[in-house]
Amino acid sequence: MSETLKIGFSAPAAPAKGVLVLFCESGLKLGPAAKRVLAPAGDLLTRAAAADRFTGKSGSAVDIVAPAGLKVSRLIVVGTGKADAKPDDLVKLGGQAFGRVPSGAADVTILAEWADGGMKPDQAADLALGITLRAYSFNRYKTKRKEGEEEPKTRHVTIGVSDPERVRKAWSERQAVASGVITARDLVNEPANVLYPEEFARRAAVLKKFGVKVEVLDERAMAKLGMRALLGVGQGSEHDSRMVVMHWNGGKKGEAPVTFIGKGVCFDTGGISIKPAGGMEDMKGDMGGAACVVGLMQTLATRKAKVNAIGLIGIVENMPDGKAQRPGDIVTSMSGQTIEIINTDAEGRLVLADVLWYAKRFKPKFMIDLATLTGAIIVSLGHEYAGLFSNDDKLAERLSKAGEETGEKVWRMPLGPEYDKLIDSKFADVKNTGGRNGGAITAAQFLQRFVEKGIPWAHLDVAGTAMGSPQTDINKSWGSGYGVRLLNQLVADHYEG
Ligand code: BES
Ligand code: MN
Ligand code: ZN
Repeated sequence: MSETLKIGFSAPAAPAKGVLVLFCESGLKLGPAAKRVLAPAGDLLTRAAAADRFTGKSGSAVDIVAPAGLKVSRLIVVGTGKADAKPDDLVKLGGQAFGRVPSGAADVTILAEWADGGMKPDQAADLALGITLRAYSFNRYKTKRKEGEEEPKTRHVTIGVSDPERVRKAWSERQAVASGVITARDLVNEPANVLYPEEFARRAAVLKKFGVKVEVLDERAMAKLGMRALLGVGQGSEHDSRMVVMHWNGGKKGEAPVTFIGKGVCFDTGGISIKPAGGMEDMKGDMGGAACVVGLMQTLATRKAKVNAIGLIGIVENMPDGKAQRPGDIVTSMSGQTIEIINTDAEGRLVLADVLWYAKRFKPKFMIDLATLTGAIIVSLGHEYAGLFSNDDKLAERLSKAGEETGEKVWRMPLGPEYDKLIDSKFADVKNTGGRNGGAITAAQFLQRFVEKGIPWAHLDVAGTAMGSPQTDINKSWGSGYGVRLLNQLVADHYEG
C-alpha cells in the first residue's frame, strides 16, 4: 500500500502536466521564474487571488483547478509572508506546500524561489526535507483502500532551482537526515507483537549495511555484566531482553566518542503495577528513545559524519507474569548500587541505570539519553518541548540551540539535592519512584545516580514528543522520529572535523 516519493532538481521550467506549486510573498509578489511560467495565463492569478482574498500571507494559499493557459491540471500558489531564512521555517514550508497537493497527484513541480529570485541551495534542500517528512505515512497494515482512493504509485516531485547541482549536494546531507527520521518513525509505529526486543535488535543490526559496527548482547551476556536492574524489568516477559551497542567511527582514531543512549521498552504494561486499559495501546511507543538512537546512527553513518559516535539501547518488554518483578523487590544494578522497586511501572529508569553505567567504559565526550520516561513531563511541557535535564551548562546550551535550529525544541528543567533525597530508600541505596510531585525531575535524579561524576550528561524526557503529538506540517504519522534532527544538528554544529 505504500507509495514512493522521488525528488529531483532541475532548472525552473513550465511543466507540461501535473500540479504546479509556486511561492509568493505578501503583496502577491512572485519570483522571476514564476512570472515567466505564469505569463501564458495572463491575469489568472491576480483575478483568482482577488476572488479568494489571497495576498501571499504565510500559511495561506490559492488553489486553481485546470488553470486556463497552462498545461498543468492544477496551480497552487503558497504564501510565504516574507522571505525567511531560518532552516526550520523552510522545512515547515516544504511540508505545508506539499500538504496542499492532492494525494493522487503523481507529478508535482515546485519552483523554489523568493520574490527576488534567490533561494540558497541549503534552503531548497530544506524544502525537500520538509516534503519528504510530510509524505511519510505508516500504512503497512492497511489492506483496503477507501472509496475513490487510487492505487499507490511513485510520485515525482521536481524542484525548480537556479543551481540544481549545488542543491543536489545539499540535499544528499538532508536525505541522510530524512532516512534516519523515517527509520525512527517506522520503529515507533510498529506494533509490539511484531517489534519485540529480539526483532528490535535485528532491525538495529540492519545498520551494518551503512558501515555501523553493531554488537548485540543477550540476557546471558548482560547477566555476566551484572545488569540486574535492566534484566529485572524484562523477567516477566516471554521475550528475552537485549542491549545493542552501535559504533560509527567517522572521526579521528582514538578521539573520544559522543554517546547516545535510548530507552527501548517495546511494550510497557506497567508490569505488576499494571496500567489502566485506556490508552495502554500507546505504550507500543515506549521505545521512542531507542528508535531515535537507531535513526540517528543511521543518519550519521549515511552522511559519513566526521565523528566517533556510540549508540546504546536497552530493549525489554515490561509484562506482568508469574515471574515478573514485584513492588518491594530489591535488585543490584551493574554499578553495585541496590534499588528498591516501589512501582514496576517506573521501569525505564531501571533499564537506563544499567545502560548509563555500561556507557562510561567508552570514556565519552558526553552522554545523552532519550527516554519516554514520565507522564509528568507531558503535564509540564505538553507536546511542544522535550524535558532537558543536564549536569553540564555548555551541553545544555548547545542542545537548546540545536532545538531552536531544527524545531525539535527542548526546555531545561532543574536538578538538585532537594529532589535527590526524595528517592532515598528505607531498605536499599535508592528507590525507583519519588512520589507524585515533580515526577519528571525525580526520574532524572534517579538516572543521575548512575552517571559517573565528571562526564557531561543530558537526559531528554521525550514522552510528550516521540509519539502521539498533534499532527504538524512535517508529520502526519503517530511516531514523530523526534530527536534525530536535534542530535544530528548538535553533532554537526560542534563535534565534527
Ligand atoms: N512509559 C511511561 C511514561 C509515559 C507515559 C510515556 C505516557 C509516554 C506517555 C513510564 O514507564 C511510566 O510508566 N512512568 C510512570 C512513572 C511513575 C510510576 C513513577 C508515570 O509517568 O506515571
Ligand atoms: Mn512504565
Ligand atoms: Zn515506560
